[in-house]
Amino acid sequence: MGQPGLDTEALQGLSLTLFSKMEGAVTATLIHLGGQLGLYRALAAAPATSEELAERAGLHERWVREWLYNQAAAHLIDVDTSVPGREKFSMGPEAVAVLADEHHPAFGLGWFHSLPATVAVAPRLVESFRTGVGHSYDVFGESGALGIEMSLKAWNEANVVSVVLPALDGVVELLTEGAAVADIGCGTGTVALTVAKAFPKSRVVGYDISQYAIDRAKERLAEQGLDNVAFSDPRVDPLPNDGSLDLVCTFDCMHDMTRPFDVAAAIRRSLSDNGTWLMVEIKGLPTFAENAALNPMASLLYGASVLTCLSSAMSEPDGAGFGTLGMHQDAARGLAERAGFTRFRRLAIDHPANAFYQIRP
Ligand SMILES: C[S@@+](CC[C@H](N)C(=O)[O-])C[C@H]1O[C@@H](n2cnc3c(N)ncnc32)[C@H](O)[C@@H]1O
Repeated sequence: MGQPGLDTEALQGLSLTLFSKMEGAVTATLIHLGGQLGLYRALAAAPATSEELAERAGLHERWVREWLYNQAAAHLIDVDTSVPGREKFSMGPEAVAVLADEHHPAFGLGWFHSLPATVAVAPRLVESFRTGVGHSYDVFGESGALGIEMSLKAWNEANVVSVVLPALDGVVELLTEGAAVADIGCGTGTVALTVAKAFPKSRVVGYDISQYAIDRAKERLAEQGLDNVAFSDPRVDPLPNDGSLDLVCTFDCMHDMTRPFDVAAAIRRSLSDNGTWLMVEIKGLPTFAENAALNPMASLLYGASVLTCLSSAMSEPDGAGFGTLGMHQDAARGLAERAGFTRFRRLAIDHPANAFYQIRP
């Protein structure tokens, strides 16, 4: 085309970058299908040709073969190509952990479970960009709540009781004796159920505004048969405001709230003077430049923010709109101080995405 100033190499580079995003979107859709169809679990059992895997999973060979080619070309699974047309596919232990073992803390398929429901909201976001008003998590339906559960459950079940709570000053002692606990933004109840099970003398109430999440949390509670947990919608049954709580947890949710300053003030009113607010938030940094330079997942996180976190945090007019990376340490401290808390400490806990804070009156 010979446009003046157009650098052909840079043009090719940008085109490659653009289509690498499309490759990600397409492969992500096939990852979703692999999870839904049980293909990763079937392949994790033993190496297989496409015929063997199709038979094992009860699926049509031609479709399974094309799926395997995509997955191997994307370097998610391994392939032995020494016999053309009779390729043998397999998964190493890392692929099993990330793609097939839902109990492994590195299991990543949860984020793909709700992908179709997440992307299906895109047409409605056109209007959100115009009005400023987004959508709460219930816009993603049941699969949205389940996807979050699948994404966060393994790490939280493995670490909340053994690593996170012991890192808080004085909290395990209170829980052992019998403490009053709230888990706000509890989703489908993983943290509330885990804490209640480990500390039977304590009583835990999980609060969430998502009907799908609360329904699923109640289902899990019925399955586990615990009698020291309840789940509520805080708009119907608000937090106590009499200083009666010993521990309030907020896991991955303050940045999703339209009114986090009001919620922080309600947390302060609910806690005793000896109480603790355990805030868990995505490890953002104060500026875009820092996030872009230092977080290899920055574009994923800013994108997910538009689709989910920012949208939720702006789902009412004048929502606070912190966004996925917005509740960084300085913002979290500011939120706590504005609500009247005086002590703020970051815990030395190693997590791939989250920072942990003990906040006290
Ligand atoms: C990313 S999820 C975290 C779920 C849960 N803490 C977990 O670890 O599985 C964020 C949750 O915050 C909830 N949420 C948003 N605003 C809220 C509010 N004002 N009060 C209570 N929950 C809220 C959403 O409905 C969603 O379930």
